[in-house]
Amino acid sequence: MHKISLLSELGFNAGGASSDFFRPVADSLPLTPISSGSPHHRLTKVSVIGAGKVGMAIAQTILTQNLADEIALVSAHPNKLRGEALDLPHAAAFLPRVHIVYGTDAAVTKNSDLVVITAGARQTPEETRLNLLERNVALCRNIVPPVAEHSPDALLLVVSNPVDVLTYVAWKLSGFPASRVVGSGTNLDASRFRFLIAEHLDVNAQDVQAYMIGEHGDSSVAVWSSISVGGMPAFKWLRNSHRSFDEAALDGIRHAMVGGAYEVIGLKGYTSWAIGYSVASLAASLLRDQHSVHPVSVLAAGFHDISEDHEVFLSLPALLCRRGVLGVAEMDLTEDEAAQLRSSAKTLWEKCQLLDL
Ligand SMILES: NC(=O)c1ccc[n+]([C@@H]2O[C@H](COP(=O)([O-])OP(=O)(O)OC[C@H]3O[C@@H](n4cnc5c(N)ncnc54)[C@H](O)[C@@H]3O)[C@@H](O)[C@H]2O)c1
Repeated sequence: MHKISLLSELGFNAGGASSDFFRPVADSLPLTPISSGSPHHRLTKVSVIGAGKVGMAIAQTILTQNLADEIALVSAHPNKLRGEALDLPHAAAFLPRVHIVYGTDAAVTKNSDLVVITAGARQTPEETRLNLLERNVALCRNIVPPVAEHSPDALLLVVSNPVDVLTYVAWKLSGFPASRVVGSGTNLDASRFRFLIAEHLDVNAQDVQAYMIGEHGDSSVAVWSSISVGGMPAFKWLRNSHRSFDEAALDGIRHAMVGGAYEVIGLKGYTSWAIGYSVASLAASLLRDQHSVHPVSVLAAGFHDISEDHEVFLSLPALLCRRGVLGVAEMDLTEDEAAQLRSSAKTLWEKCQLLDL
């Protein structure tokens, strides 16, 4: 069967054709294609490690939101990877111009600004995220050191599960400062929380502020007191308007938050679209220096009475900018919420201790 490839792979010289087609203006730079190594231009390069369901949802969302000039895809399955890398540029006429490179070797990630790690096994319908630990730690040992070597100044954004432990693993294996290593954490859980409250109140989820913190997973902590809608603390607003969240509605929201991902995985086998948008929102805040606050997995030692000695990554509201994490908001938690957070921290720290890093 005839193998259809990218023109560059067939030996066409894009720069040469361009210089035939356009007459250079006086004092212009040569009409050669600009690559990420070029001294003439600083391109934004994002690498996505793992081109599975999650990696490709993230790559395509980053592409459509025009967050990168170059996207590098790395995966262990060369044919599937090549298929994805050929499929995306076929939409070039409808998208911002982005250079896509790919390979099974981390060398294609060289000089990345942001590396998103999605490689790894995903949970089966009955499996918890922590069950994935051993399998995905082994993968990280292969992936993180070469990625860090090729892009020593990059930001690392870990998505693979269990994300909090793997963010710790990526931090240790990369040798990067903690401010440049974050996990996608509860950014997605918080979006589910905001969506469910928005549905209940029949308002736009973007107008709902609500945080979920702690572990991305079964022990995540919903900070009910943080809910505000249009600047109004939600519970106060409901009381003033003589309405209330009835217990059944609260239970429904709690149940849907805890079971949401499991339900999607049970029905379609994986989750992809929401995590794609969640990670693209983090990429935008980081790469565009937005100073936006997101609940993401950060080094949590010392916050909310988590021991200074417990090097554990958990989601807390973090201020994100081009340099990574600028700071963490210390929320006014109830004693119960703080206790849940410390309990997650202890569980995760015990897991991290088993890893010998
Ligand atoms: N943090 C979150 O909110 C969140 C949400 C959804 C999924 N996830 C996690 O994301 C991960 C990926 O899920 P998925 O559905 O895309 O799985 P998938 O099986 O579809 O894809 C995994 C990809 O990893 C690649 N891979 C495996 N070993 C590799 C290596 N050594 N180097 C490079 N690539 C390698 C595979 O080739 C495959 O393309 C899972 O761990 C899943 O639990 C996290």
